[in-house]
Amino acid sequence: MSTNIAEPAKAASSAAAPLPIVIVGHVDHGKSTLVGRLLHETGSLPDGKVDELRTQAERRGADFEWSFVMDALQVERDQGITVDTTRIWFRSSVRRYVIIDAPGHKEFLKNMVTGAAAADAALLVIDAVEGVSEQTRRHAYLLGLLGVSQVVVAVNKIDLVNYDETRFGEVAEEITDYLRELKISPLSVIPLSAREGANIVEPDGNMDWWRGPTVMAALDAIEPARAPIDQPLRLPIQDVYRQDDKRILAGRIAGGNLRVGDRLNFSPGGQTASVHSIEDWSSTGADQPSRVSAGAGQSVAFTLDEDIFVERGHIAANDGAVPATANNLKVHLFWLDREPLAEGDRLTLKIGTSAHSVAVASVDRLIDVQTLAPSNSTEVSRNGVAEITLRSRSRIAFDAFADNRGTGRGVLIRDHRLVGGCTIEGAADLALSRNLTSVNQTVTRAERTTANGHQGGVLWLTGLSGSGKSTLGMGLQRRLFERGDQVYVLDGDNVRQGLNSDLGFGPEERAENIRRIAEVANLFADAGFLVVTAFISPYREDRDNARAIIGGQFREIYVQASLEACEQRDPKGLYARARAGEIPQFTGISAPYEEPHAPDAVVDTENLSLEAAVEELVAHVDDTFSIARQTRKAG
Ligand code: ADX
Repeated sequence: MSTNIAEPAKAASSAAAPLPIVIVGHVDHGKSTLVGRLLHETGSLPDGKVDELRTQAERRGADFEWSFVMDALQVERDQGITVDTTRIWFRSSVRRYVIIDAPGHKEFLKNMVTGAAAADAALLVIDAVEGVSEQTRRHAYLLGLLGVSQVVVAVNKIDLVNYDETRFGEVAEEITDYLRELKISPLSVIPLSAREGANIVEPDGNMDWWRGPTVMAALDAIEPARAPIDQPLRLPIQDVYRQDDKRILAGRIAGGNLRVGDRLNFSPGGQTASVHSIEDWSSTGADQPSRVSAGAGQSVAFTLDEDIFVERGHIAANDGAVPATANNLKVHLFWLDREPLAEGDRLTLKIGTSAHSVAVASVDRLIDVQTLAPSNSTEVSRNGVAEITLRSRSRIAFDAFADNRGTGRGVLIRDHRLVGGCTIEGAADLALSRNLTSVNQTVTRAERTTANGHQGGVLWLTGLSGSGKSTLGMGLQRRLFERGDQVYVLDGDNVRQGLNSDLGFGPEERAENIRRIAEVANLFADAGFLVVTAFISPYREDRDNARAIIGGQFREIYVQASLEACEQRDPKGLYARARAGEIPQFTGISAPYEEPHAPDAVVDTENLSLEAAVEELVAHVDDTFSIARQTRKAG
């Protein structure tokens, strides 16, 4: 939400979008006065507004200040509900602008790091008397971090130093040096007095020595940012829902274009399908023609030609130009919480519409924004910036911030509160897995497939304890083995006595259990085997991670039976013991089971005999992994 000041019908009549700029700098350095002046001198204020404020001030016995204009806007803003930014529209002789301002320092930082204040350029205000302050540097640092490289510097209150060229030179040099370290070269550094109206729109007689532009002229020279429409497609999925027999995917295009017929790839899993139709998001009437394409910034609803697994958080991209995926990310962090961030802390990282449980693997470099020197501390305190490594349970789809703003930045959440923001540098190369190169196998996947008569793959059985995963898995193994398939069952109770004997049943340990099984199953599948895994795998995030590790050869099979049925069966007597409080964190009793949203198959063991259930799975294997069947289908 934001307050819209002076964004009247005019907007519709002007073709180009207004140029968004942020105004930054120390609170007392005169941002409000400068904005008030700009609005006044460009004729952007309603008639009589200044007179009204002058009269009000006189009545209070106070001198009129230009910042009253902003204060007046602020009052209007305070009547809003959860308003973080003020958006102020004005127009020069050249184009329209929208100034994005935040009421306070905290909100400003928050808006900057979350992207709420996405701007093409910045106006950095510095007090000529006080010079470059710590807050000036912090804001400038953020501009660098967030890639806002077009910066106009306003050295304000020049009247208070008697329009002195030498003082201006000192301040200009100090800020230019600092910005240079951040790889920003300011478009211009301008001496001005917002209060006196000097060098705002008109040059000033007291500064004959100044040959440069006014602030307005400098802003008019800014190049608008390139539209994200020219980038590769990035469409974070917001929702998947059913309407009649259609499955509709919805989201806002962060970059590029979406066209009917495009082959899409959904990260991080890598599932592919083509765009069947684009529905007009805003249209409700059936007579509305559907679109054939949509571009960056637009919200779309679309359907696919195949029923593949897609859910909120996945990123749709064009096959061949997909985002990166990784479990570990190196990010530039900006920390906002009072409680410092330390190594080992657990947070939720949100990128676009996806959310991931992450841990701070390491604080790699803490940066002193005053000196830009690194420090050795491993704690990041409030308003601190650092380079850190995040480790995630699930696989994360992302872009480097330098490549794509929308999918290259994230926010950090702790206890439902926004505690920080980050821009992504890339996948982290954890010390443990450095200096490795993959060695190619001398027997290829295709050769194994031909030799076996089927592809390698993983049937991932998930369900409550007692739902029948092991029985079903073993039955399926027997059937497939007897007809000559290469098959093996990985079973929870077995693997937990060997490979995973160091793991218990807390959420973290279950995640690690599933991660290791997924890696092992992936190796078996690579070796040409049909792998049947029988693990409760109660967390959706962990199963998604398994899917990401295994890729296209992964099939999620929900072995369905109600808790009552499983408890009644209680083959190992564990439910009774769990009810008696003897087994902590028992799935279904004192720990959750998250049902699959869109499994590749569901086997209902309450209503099917074992034989019938096995037959269903054999048919599924034939459909998915048997080359004989696929050849027959193709013929
Ligand atoms: S998972 O949740 O990490 O996938 P997994 O399938 O490996 O679990 O192991 C489940 C088996 O461990 C159960 O079938 C049961 O025999 C045993 N078990 C022991 N304690 C628990 C528990 N707290 N919750 C679930 N299963 C348990």
